[in-house]
Amino acid sequence: MSIPIELSKLIELVGRHNRWRRFECINLIPSENVMSPLAEAVYFSDLMHRYAEGKPGKRFYQGNIYSDQIELYTSELLSKLFNVEFVEPRPISGTIANAVAFRSFAEPGDRAVVPSLQAGAHISHTELGILGAMGIKQFVMPFDIDKWNIDVDRARKIIEDVKPQLVILGASVYLFPHPTREIADIAHSVNSIIIHDVAHVLGLIAGKVWPNPIHEGADIVTASTHKTFPGPQGGVIFTNNRDIYETISRNILRFVSNHHLHRLPAVAVTAIEMLYFGEQYAKQITRNAKRFAEALAEQGFEVVAENLGYTQSHMVLIDVRRYGGGAKIAKMLEDANIIANKNLLPWDSPEKAHNPSGIRFGVQEMTRFGMKEDDFREIAVFIREVIIDRKDVYEVKKKVVEFRKNFINIAYGFDIPKEFYNSVISIPMIL
Ligand SMILES: Cc1ncc(COP(=O)(O)O)c(C=O)c1O
Repeated sequence: MSIPIELSKLIELVGRHNRWRRFECINLIPSENVMSPLAEAVYFSDLMHRYAEGKPGKRFYQGNIYSDQIELYTSELLSKLFNVEFVEPRPISGTIANAVAFRSFAEPGDRAVVPSLQAGAHISHTELGILGAMGIKQFVMPFDIDKWNIDVDRARKIIEDVKPQLVILGASVYLFPHPTREIADIAHSVNSIIIHDVAHVLGLIAGKVWPNPIHEGADIVTASTHKTFPGPQGGVIFTNNRDIYETISRNILRFVSNHHLHRLPAVAVTAIEMLYFGEQYAKQITRNAKRFAEALAEQGFEVVAENLGYTQSHMVLIDVRRYGGGAKIAKMLEDANIIANKNLLPWDSPEKAHNPSGIRFGVQEMTRFGMKEDDFREIAVFIREVIIDRKDVYEVKKKVVEFRKNFINIAYGFDIPKEFYNSVISIPMIL
């Protein structure tokens, strides 16, 4: 029998996707990354077929002798890497981590003070997402464009007036650390729980270039495990408070039945790699982001937050209103194999979500493939050729594909020492 047509079509599509996104594109989506070969090797295991509802040692399913140990060890490694006492690794995404954390400390009809969508909040922080789904009322913290951050004085007034059950920090557009300590003091003065969502910057925290909100007074940290922290897609929750941890752990089963066990060893491998290489990786990410922002400004773009040195994170934001807006520009870049996000900027109204003012770039994945500051300067030139010079986009695409061929090994801003790769060879035999 020859290969069924349905199967060959599917395999071809997956192969095309893999070749295109993995080897031919410059990926600048800030919420993505790639796992190391080691993490991928342990991800493809029998664990992906199994159930383990409940906590290690107290499962609702048999067959978890080893997965219990894997889960406990993953939590132990994360606890060490992030210097936190309690880790809940079961949320299967950052959104689910938020849902569990929010619902653990707020009932329908309760109140939450959150960053605004235009100033970077993730949809799950808002009435359009989890808050709305749970009937929790949203009150928005004002944003100070000059400081490109939460306006603490005006946020104080809102928090003191509203006396919310929850105060939420963190963002999907995140150039500078949010003022956790100041907002935590205000939140605690009215008995609110403060939750800081560090989905985007978890890897920067692991690499010690971004503050860990747990050490600055946040009660709970939620995150994804696949953005600057280059693990498998999933979520995680941290706290230093035993009561909070126990409440969250009890509530997990309301949102997650099967917690996708095969993620856990891949998270653990990534945590081990970040223990060894995380600082160098995170430093290279922030150097690259800064240089990229400067280079885009040199090429003629309006890069936001110039007065503040553009960025301290993995992200860079440009305002592309004068070129037709974010939707048009993101599509033009895609035609040149440069993959980026359109994004609201603080001066947009939420209705502009389909054609916002901004484009959001993230350097973490290309840094992982070994790109350095000068490489990001070249990328800024490609972007100018597409957006400002309006050169033939297919000519630029050819140059992008050639350029990308120089960066095919996954690294941490430098090549991973051979011993780490050698162990990959023996892992399939174990499996
Ligand atoms: C700040 C923030 N929180 C949560 C999420 C949701 O994460 P996930 O896609 O893992 O559900 C995102 C997604 O990008 C995010 O930016």
